[in-house]
Amino acid sequence: MTTSQPIISLKQVSKSFGKAGGASSYTAVDRLDLDVGRGQMLALLGKTGCGKSTIFNMIAGLTEPSSGDVTIDGRNPFRDFDSFRGKIAIVFQGDRLLPWRTAVQNVELGLEMLDVPAEKRRTAAMHWLTTLGLRGHENDYPHALSGGMRQRVSIARAFATDANILLCDEPFSALDEMTGRSLRAEFARLVKQNGKTAVFITHSINEALEIGDRIVVLKRPANIAVDLPLTSETTETEKLAIRNQIQGVLAA
Ligand SMILES: Nc1ncnc2c1ncn2[C@@H]1O[C@H](COP(=O)(O)OP(=O)(O)O)[C@@H](O)[C@H]1O
Ligand SMILES: [Mg+2]
Repeated sequence: MTTSQPIISLKQVSKSFGKAGGASSYTAVDRLDLDVGRGQMLALLGKTGCGKSTIFNMIAGLTEPSSGDVTIDGRNPFRDFDSFRGKIAIVFQGDRLLPWRTAVQNVELGLEMLDVPAEKRRTAAMHWLTTLGLRGHENDYPHALSGGMRQRVSIARAFATDANILLCDEPFSALDEMTGRSLRAEFARLVKQNGKTAVFITHSINEALEIGDRIVVLKRPANIAVDLPLTSETTETEKLAIRNQIQGVLAA
C-alpha cells in the first residue's frame, strides 16, 4: 500500500433529519464520497446550512450516518468512539474553554482525560501555550484573554493531546479578519510541521485558499460540487482562477 491510503473515508454517506420519507424529513448530506489522505489539510467549503457541521459530526463520531459508511483508520468513529480517545482533536468556532480554569489548566484538560501524569501534562501544556505565543498568560482565566488568545488556547489544547487528526469547524470565523488571518497561517504551519491530518470547515473562500492543500466545495444538500488540489506551486494567477471557479459554483 502507498501513503495515499486514506485516513478518513466516507462512502455514500447520507444523513437525514426527521422521519425517513416523512413530510418533515430533511436530507442534509446526500450520498457523499470523500477520502482524506494522511497528512492532508482539507478545506471543506460551503454556504451556511449546506451540511458542513453534519459531516463534521459524523467524522468526529458524534452522530451516525443514516446510510453509508464513515471510517477512520478503518474503524467506525461512532460505534468505536472510545477507541478514538486522544486520536482526534476538535476545535470549534467557540473556544469552549472552561471559565473556572486558567489557560494552562484548560490545555491540560484533554490530557487529564487521557490519564497523563500531572508533570507531563504541565510540560506539554506549557510547550503548546508557548508555541502559540501565550507564555506569561498561562495563569490567566479565559475572561481576561481576548477572543484571539482564547482561540489560541483551544488550539494549544488540540495539539497537546498529540492526536493525529484535527477536526476544525469554522474555528476562526468569530475572530476579526486580521486576527483570523495570522492565526490561520500559524495553524496551517503547525499542522504541517507536526504531520497532522486536518479537516478544516469554512464558509470563507479566502480562508479555504489560505489554509487548504485541497479544497472541496459542497453544494446543498452536502455533496461534492468541485474538488480542487492546491500545492505550494499554485501561483497567485492560478489561485485567482480557482477563486472565480469557486464563486461560480457557490452562486449556482
Ligand atoms: N439535529 C438536526 N435536526 C434537524 N435538522 C438539522 C439538524 N442539524 C442540522 N440540521 C439541518 O441540516 C442542514 C445542514 O446543517 P449544518 O450541517 O449545520 O450546516 P452548516 O454547518 O453547513 O451550516 C440545515 O438545514 C440544518 O437546519
Ligand atoms: Mg456549521
